[in-house]
Parts: sequence; C-alpha cells; structure tokens
Amino acid sequence: MGGGTGDSAPSDSSPAATGSEAVVPAASAAPAAAAAASPALVDNTPAVPDPVAPWVAAAQSRQKIPFWAIPVLALLPIWAAIYMLTLDTPTPTELGPYEAGAEVYNNKGCSGCHGGAGAGNGNNPALIGPTGATKVFTVPANQVTWVILGSAGYKAAGLETYGDADVVRPIGGGMPAWGEVLTADEIMDAILHERSALNDEKFDIATWRDGFEEALSALLPAEQVAQFTAVLDKWEKDPPAPAA
Ligand code: HEC
Repeated sequence: MGGGTGDSAPSDSSPAATGSEAVVPAASAAPAAAAAASPALVDNTPAVPDPVAPWVAAAQSRQKIPFWAIPVLALLPIWAAIYMLTLDTPTPTELGPYEAGAEVYNNKGCSGCHGGAGAGNGNNPALIGPTGATKVFTVPANQVTWVILGSAGYKAAGLETYGDADVVRPIGGGMPAWGEVLTADEIMDAILHERSALNDEKFDIATWRDGFEEALSALLPAEQVAQFTAVLDKWEKDPPAPAA
C-alpha cells in the first residue's frame, strides 16, 4: 500500500515541478543572450583578419614532406644499383647457340690457348687451316668426345691419337677435359663456334648426327651421351641460326 502512494505522489508532482522550472529560465535566457550577443558583434567587427588568399591557405594547410619519404629516398640508390645489375648481366640461356658458342669460346678459356681467331700459339694447335678442327674432325662426333675428355681423358681411354682417319694427330698433351667444367650446351655451342665462325662450316643437322651416338657411347657413360644427344634433338627442332 505504501508503495502505491509512493509511486503516485512523485508522478503527480514532477510534471508540475519540471514544467515550471523549464519555462522560467527559457523565457528569461533568450532575451539576455540576444542582448549580450549584439554588442559583442559590433565590438569584433574591426578585428576581423584580412582574407587569406586561397593558394596561401592551401600551401599552409598542405602536408610538407611525408614521413615515408626519407627511407624511400635512402633506399633509392640501392634499388638503382640492383636494377643496373639486372641490365648488365644477360644470361647465356638468352643467347642462341651461335652467340653462346662465341661467348664460351672467348670467355671460358678456349681463346686463351687457341687464340680468338683459332690461329693457336706455341704448343696449342691452330683450330683453322690444314690441321683445323673441321679437317681433323670431319664430322663433329669425335670433336665432342675430344673436348669432353681432353688429352688425358683420351689417353686414359687407351688412345694414342685424336681425330678422324683423314688427319690423325698424335696426342701431345695439354688439352684440358671440359666435360666436368662446362655444360653439354656450352660444349656443343663452343664446337659449333669452332666449326662455323672459325671454319665457315654451314650448320647441317645430318653432319652433326653422323656417328654421334656411336662415338660418344664408345667413350662416355650413357647418361652423358643422353645429355649431348638432347642438345642435338633441340637443334633439330630449332636449328641454330647466326645472329643477323
Ligand atoms: C690450356 C690450353 C688450352 C685450352 C684452354 C683449350 N685448349 Fe684445346 N687444345 C690444347 C692443346 C695443347 C691441344 C693439342 C692437345 C694434344 O696434342 O694432346 C688442343 C687441341 C684442341 C683441338 C684439336 C685441334 C686440332 O685441330 O688439332 C680442339 C678442337 C680443341 N683443342 C678445342 C678446344 C676448346 C673447344 C676449348 C675451350 C672449351 C679448348 N680447346 C681450350 C690446349 C688448350
């Protein structure tokens, strides 16, 4: 019972109390605020600043140097150096067999002993002329095993001479074995260079196929024979062409 009268008593009196309190300040505050505002506006009028040109305001509010600019600028020379390295090193795989062969011949050791034009020097025989590579090796097959095994490899296989029946030469020693140093592609490309660029032989897949597997199989393991035969298969599909 007491709860019932307690509930009803405030609900009856509260709208009256809030209503009377709300009305009195609202009515008195509005004229007071208006009266206070109008003299203040008049006082402030002379103090309004000169208008700022929009481009000046834009320049002042614009962010100057972004926070990430310093590390980016610092890394720029490193990026430039890496970028230039990618330009300077074309990989041999991008070259055709002719260009790659010239590259191997001139930059991987052959020209050091045999000369850039194949003229030879001292004990290092010429690869051109009457005892040149295409005369000693009428077809590339035995030239391939010779370059793979070198003087010592040929001797280890019980051979006393190198070359085909036409121009057989005694093994004097000194020709390195390249089979462990160069890839099958590099050796084939270098031999192509010796036969074409140095000796003017025109590429013909039949000449390269002639006795190839028999000659290699006689001196080399089957796996290595397969690697070199794979180069021939590639050349048959896509014959080497000299650069224009
Ligand atoms: C260290 C010096 C040297 C280097 C490097 C060298 N050769 Fe030789 N090459 C010789 C010598 C010496 C002979 C003769 C070997 C002998 O009589 O036993 C020879 C012989 C040859 C022959 C036979 C030439 C002929 O007509 O009688 C060919 C082909 C050949 N080398 C190819 C190459 C190729 C290809 C390379 C590079 C991959 C190469 N040589 C690198 C020293 C070298």
